[in-house]
Amino acid sequence: MLRNLRSYLLVALLIALYALSKFTKITDGLEKYYEMAEEAEKNANKAEYIPEPNHPKSSHHGGSHKHGSSSSPGVADPYDFSKSKWLPSKTNCAAPPTGMIFLKKHKTASTTFRHMLTKYARFKGLPSVGEPQLIGPQGGCYPARFDERCWPATGHMSPIVALTYHFRWNMDLFEEKFLTSGVASVTTIRDPETTFRSVYNYYYLNHAGKVSKCDMPCWGEPFRSFNNGREDLPVGEFLDNLPKLFNASETRNFRSKNYQAFEMGMDHLNDNTAYILRNLKRLDQHNFDFVVLTEYYYESLVLLAKLFCLPYEVLYEPQLNKREYEIEPLTPTQKKNFETYFKADIMLYDYFNKSLHHKIEDYGREKFHQEVEKLKAVYEKCEEDVKHCLWKKAPRMNPEDLKITAVPGEKMKVQDFIDLMDENFGWCSNPFNPYTQLKLWQKTGKMTYGDECNYKQDILNNFEL
Ligand SMILES: *[C@@H]1O[C@H](CO)[C@@H](O)[C@H](O)[C@H]1NC(C)=O
Ligand SMILES: *[C@@H]1O[C@H](CO)[C@@H](O)[C@H](O)[C@H]1NC(C)=O
Repeated sequence: MLRNLRSYLLVALLIALYALSKFTKITDGLEKYYEMAEEAEKNANKAEYIPEPNHPKSSHHGGSHKHGSSSSPGVADPYDFSKSKWLPSKTNCAAPPTGMIFLKKHKTASTTFRHMLTKYARFKGLPSVGEPQLIGPQGGCYPARFDERCWPATGHMSPIVALTYHFRWNMDLFEEKFLTSGVASVTTIRDPETTFRSVYNYYYLNHAGKVSKCDMPCWGEPFRSFNNGREDLPVGEFLDNLPKLFNASETRNFRSKNYQAFEMGMDHLNDNTAYILRNLKRLDQHNFDFVVLTEYYYESLVLLAKLFCLPYEVLYEPQLNKREYEIEPLTPTQKKNFETYFKADIMLYDYFNKSLHHKIEDYGREKFHQEVEKLKAVYEKCEEDVKHCLWKKAPRMNPEDLKITAVPGEKMKVQDFIDLMDENFGWCSNPFNPYTQLKLWQKTGKMTYGDECNYKQDILNNFEL
């Protein structure tokens, strides 16, 4: 009896050991990759390059841009996608991108896509996998349009090699300065109603009754203020009352009006159709090489692989379990209100869907669908065993060979940051939001962040009074 038990235990132990070794093998590649990604994010705070003195630091806001399309009152051919900034047929894999700008939009699967593009940087051996953020996960003085005063004190590379954190697009600045040849630019969009539900849960409902000790987004807003402090209004009731509740002067009001257009640099309060179309056209023709639609995941990956001249393996990401929500369909009134407040986002989604489908036509529809099947087959194998998706990173390229220079940074004035927040719906009254803490620092010379929050260190590194 006892002997029997012992041999059972032995067999069980052997099975466990075998499983463990197999598991270790499977996860090894991924583990390494995530370690690298994390390390990259941390390292982002250390200068990897030697600053070059006497590089003037300029700031850009407003200003007209070269193409003139934004100043024309009408919108000729708003849907002329043959003029899109990038088409598959324009790809030149003899000179693939040596820089990338990824606009990491909120609640649009952007973390997954950021991982993918970080892997591109490693695969190619680009001299950076990501510019460092200013505070926490974001930079550029979000929600203000990207402002060059908001580069962190460690400086940045020029031309840009990898800009992939949360920021708000700035068409004037990027067209003039950042979107040089060899720099590919990408972002992700998602069905507007699904995105809004996700935004409402994430910033508001899931944070009811909590005070974050490390608050970047100004949790709860604008929904909490719209409701006089109430923290549990169901989304349907919110949409029923949106026209009464909405306050265009409230902080973070863009989360309940044209959030995606806002992050892509548009004025979210301008519902003029010609204005919206003019800007969508400008985004398509002069700003983004490709806009991913998360609802066209595999199609988007084929196009991304084409844009970056990549084997599909490199873009592989394990599919995370999607959270399932009980979804009450919107009533006709709620739908009507939603469509009023998200007019630009609905137009934007439709516009870039058309743009994506034009790219598919340009690729050759037949051939494109074969590629989608190929990619899916590759990913099924990776799903079984990640070994199928391992790849070797290229040796690190030399910034000088790429004519990339380091622009030194300087500390940002606290007051400049506060002004930018005040002008761009970025102020906040939550106690551990950087805005509150910077004001406190100004007033008392101290911040009250605890050890659990690294924003204090970011602030000390990047700001001066
Ligand atoms: C709208 O928001 C601003 C900024 O918080 C506030 O001062 C103002 O009182 C609000 N207006 C209404 C009608 O609640
Ligand atoms: C996107 O465009 C295609 C082609 O025009 C259309 O068939 C499809 O319904 C659109 N998808 C969405 C989600 O709007």
